Amino acid sequence: MQMELLLQPIRNFLRCETPKAWLEQVPNQLHTILIDHANCELKAAQAAVRMLKLYGPKPVALACLDWIKPYEDAAYGRTAVAEFLQLPITRPNFTRYDDPLVEKLVMLIREELHHFHQVLTIMAARQVDYPFQSSSRYAPTLHRQCRTHEPARQVDMLIVGAYIEARSCERFAAMIDYVDDELAAFYWSLLRSEARHFEDYLALAQSISDTSIATRVQQLGVIEAELIKAEDDCFRFHSGSPTET
Ligand SMILES: [Fe+2]
Ligand SMILES: [Fe+2]
Repeated sequence: MQMELLLQPIRNFLRCETPKAWLEQVPNQLHTILIDHANCELKAAQAAVRMLKLYGPKPVALACLDWIKPYEDAAYGRTAVAEFLQLPITRPNFTRYDDPLVEKLVMLIREELHHFHQVLTIMAARQVDYPFQSSSRYAPTLHRQCRTHEPARQVDMLIVGAYIEARSCERFAAMIDYVDDELAAFYWSLLRSEARHFEDYLALAQSISDTSIATRVQQLGVIEAELIKAEDDCFRFHSGSPTET
């Protein structure tokens, strides 16, 4: 019941559910999912850092770049995962930020890096390697839709962020019945921690726009749903409906 309450706003926001054919692939593709999930958590943190670089105070952006570097080193194979997991958890070297955009983005970075660490811990315990794995078409296609003039570009980036967050939560909930108990508990914990991220992104998007963002939310939502429903020959965390093999 608690899950239904968390999921209702997400389902209302998204225009389609994850196809059953995608879910049925999950048990056979667990390593692919774990690796892509780790990458997605890091990319979520990187997207927030990119927003800070573009629109936040420079010292905060630079501090965040330093903060995420050890995580990027692990993701790009510059540090072995076992070594990375021994490192102390880093914190940004600044404490005050009065701007709501900065505050929200720093909070998102902290959460996403924590999730990245959690996924790598689970992978290490299961002896799942962390090789390079290409990403799906999903996020790059959505990012290509962003308009190029300001403030429309920033509004679109935030709306795309909202869709990626919402879809991730919808998938965590849907995957619970297709994975083992440890992963099911992990996905449930992520759902609780991430369920409102999409609303944070939408609120930020609306806060920087003089007009209603509703039409743009709807346009991008149609494209997002199409990426989820259309056939996709590359199975990933955010991929579309698997092609018949
Ligand atoms: Fe996350
Ligand atoms: Fe998130």
